[in-house]
Amino acid sequence: MIKLVILLSLCSIEVSSICQSCFPTDFLWGASTSSYQIEGAWNTSGKGENIWDWFTHSFPEKIKDGSNGDVAADSYNKYLDDVELLKNLGANVYRLSLSWSRILPNGTVNNINQEGVDYYINLLTALRENNIEPVVTIYHWDLPLPLHEMGGWTNPLIVDFYNVYADLCFSLFGDLVKYWLTLNESISQCYFGYGEGTHAPGYQESGTLTYICAYTQLLAHAKAYRTYNDTYKQMYNGEVGVVLVSLWYEPLTDSDEDKTAAENGVQWALGLFGHPIFIGNWPQVIIDRIGNLSALQGLNASRLPEFTSEEIELIKGTYDYMGFNYYTTFYATPINNIENIELVVQSYGVDRNVNSSVDPAWTSSASGLVYDVPTGIRSMLNWVAKNFGNPRILITENGWASLPESSLNDTERITYLQGHLCNTLKAIYIDGVNVFGYLNWSLIDNFEWDGGYDVRFGLVEVDFENSNRTRTPKQSYYAFQEIIKSNCISHCFVKRDD
Ligand SMILES: *[C@@H]1O[C@H](CO)[C@@H](O)[C@H](O)[C@H]1NC(C)=O
Ligand SMILES: *[C@@H]1O[C@H](CO)[C@@H](O)[C@H](O)[C@H]1NC(C)=O
Ligand SMILES: *[C@@H]1O[C@H](CO)[C@@H](O)[C@H](O)[C@H]1NC(C)=O
Ligand SMILES: *[C@@H]1O[C@H](CO)[C@@H](O)[C@H](O)[C@H]1NC(C)=O
Ligand SMILES: *[C@@H]1O[C@H](CO)[C@@H](O)[C@H](O)[C@H]1NC(C)=O
Ligand SMILES: *[C@@H]1O[C@H](CO)[C@@H](O)[C@H](O)[C@H]1NC(C)=O
Ligand SMILES: *[C@@H]1O[C@H](CO)[C@@H](O)[C@H](O)[C@H]1NC(C)=O
Ligand SMILES: *[C@@H]1O[C@H](CO)[C@@H](O)[C@H](O)[C@H]1NC(C)=O
Ligand SMILES: *[C@@H]1O[C@H](CO)[C@@H](O)[C@H](O)[C@H]1NC(C)=O
Ligand SMILES: *[C@@H]1O[C@H](CO)[C@@H](O)[C@H](O)[C@H]1NC(C)=O
Repeated sequence: MIKLVILLSLCSIEVSSICQSCFPTDFLWGASTSSYQIEGAWNTSGKGENIWDWFTHSFPEKIKDGSNGDVAADSYNKYLDDVELLKNLGANVYRLSLSWSRILPNGTVNNINQEGVDYYINLLTALRENNIEPVVTIYHWDLPLPLHEMGGWTNPLIVDFYNVYADLCFSLFGDLVKYWLTLNESISQCYFGYGEGTHAPGYQESGTLTYICAYTQLLAHAKAYRTYNDTYKQMYNGEVGVVLVSLWYEPLTDSDEDKTAAENGVQWALGLFGHPIFIGNWPQVIIDRIGNLSALQGLNASRLPEFTSEEIELIKGTYDYMGFNYYTTFYATPINNIENIELVVQSYGVDRNVNSSVDPAWTSSASGLVYDVPTGIRSMLNWVAKNFGNPRILITENGWASLPESSLNDTERITYLQGHLCNTLKAIYIDGVNVFGYLNWSLIDNFEWDGGYDVRFGLVEVDFENSNRTRTPKQSYYAFQEIIKSNCISHCFVKRDD
């Protein structure tokens, strides 16, 4: 019955260019940003210092163009312009993140900064007045410096600091927020921040700290989920999820080794965080691999922290929906002669054992960060549905980067958008994946972490040379506006035998 209705609403035959495929009614459309990347106002209005303030000021050489988020897109002062852009875009959701150190300058509830609280209340209220539902990420990467000084995500005490902060956010903003996200891309923070060191706080112990960070972030997420579920759910009836990310990996060849490498690529990012939440405990393949290597390396225990059975139960099932970021795809094959280094190198890369490469035929974004492989989003959505029990999924980031000098006529970005949305539709209608919304990364050009301002993801250009930080929509903004208005995309033929 349902299938029949769906079939009628799709174009099953490639007959004419008018043929369109439409998204489910009530589909959520919008764009994403994050606090440190857009707000600026780093040292005013009572905000405390966070690890990105400290990192960019102390090590400008670690940022491609030596820049920082001191002013960024100045959204602290220009948030109403951003709301206006969203409104004209036709968005019905907007994903933003809260700056922990703007609300709690010292990281703890001993000192609440009312100006920071007011900023978010004003922003959230302006969004709701324009019928834009906020999707709020409680914490993303910009840890208050005092909490870093006590070890940050390597100190298990952080779990309760985070939970107390999240509890405060629920109580302050709960009446204005329906969709909460606890953490954004834990793997990126744990790997780039604590493993590779290219992001704040800059630690380089990927074989241990990456996993310790994963352990504390999972517990922090779980406690915050339960705080909401137990204390606020009845009052506000919102939903709490977590944002996971992975690249998609295709096996380089048909060999079993390459298939295993591709699966490992996804497991070490999505599985590491998703399995404990959706299924329970770390993925067995990760427990076994790190356990085996730790023994081989003469350690008396695994480098992967072991969850107690209480912790497994605490984390399991703590989701109402899943936020999911997808950008690009790589080929995977095992690392050459890995046996020669396994004994001596304790690293996430050796544990994972993936050598990745790209197809020269793929269009690459000017930044080289993103390759346009639209089928990857569909494969990935299917992997999630199959491995995590088909949860409801909100696509929280997807996007294309360009260089600052590229024009407002960003046709490659529009092609990327078409391809990814079409494959999302196929995942929904053909594969039965439960996607209920799509958010673009990003609404406006912003500070792209170690890429500085050299990498531009925005649907809207920001003039960083101008003190007004003037905003100008690109062609992709208008293309996206059309899609939202019609709730459909053209040239996307969703056939059941695709
Ligand atoms: C989520 O993580 C991505 C990864 O780089 C980052 O660019 C983005 O700012 C984050 N989003 C939010 C809302 O925190
Ligand atoms: C805030 O930081 C800016 C640099 O971004 C600096 O010029 C200014 O003096 C600082 N203000 C205060 C109050 O420290
Ligand atoms: C917060 O930190 C600032 C700067 O380190 C310090 O001066 C202040 O006393 C702290 N406030 C509280 C309440 O701990
Ligand atoms: C771990 O070692 C055991 C025993 O040698 C082996 O059977 C298993 O395949 C290994 N697992 C992984 C993931 O390396
Ligand atoms: C394991 O080794 C670490 C140091 O490598 C030591 O601190 C710890 O006590 C050892 N644990 C056991 C159970 O032997
Ligand atoms: C959330 O609360 C509901 C209703 O009280 C309960 O049934 C559910 O088990 C809770 N979820 C978790 C993960 O505890
Ligand atoms: C990774 O694969 C490429 C070929 O795709 C090869 O040239 C390179 O040596 C491999 N690197 C490692 C570390 O295995
Ligand atoms: C944008 O560029 C494309 C191809 O490069 C061209 O066909 C199109 O006319 C341009 N559109 C605008 C509005 O300039
Ligand atoms: C989202 O924005 C990116 C630019 O970062 C663009 O490549 C992509 O096509 C956009 N998708 C949508 C749905 O607007
Ligand atoms: C900034 O905007 C104001 C008001 O629109 C305008 O008067 C001023 O000239 C602008 N400044 C710059 C540097 O463009």
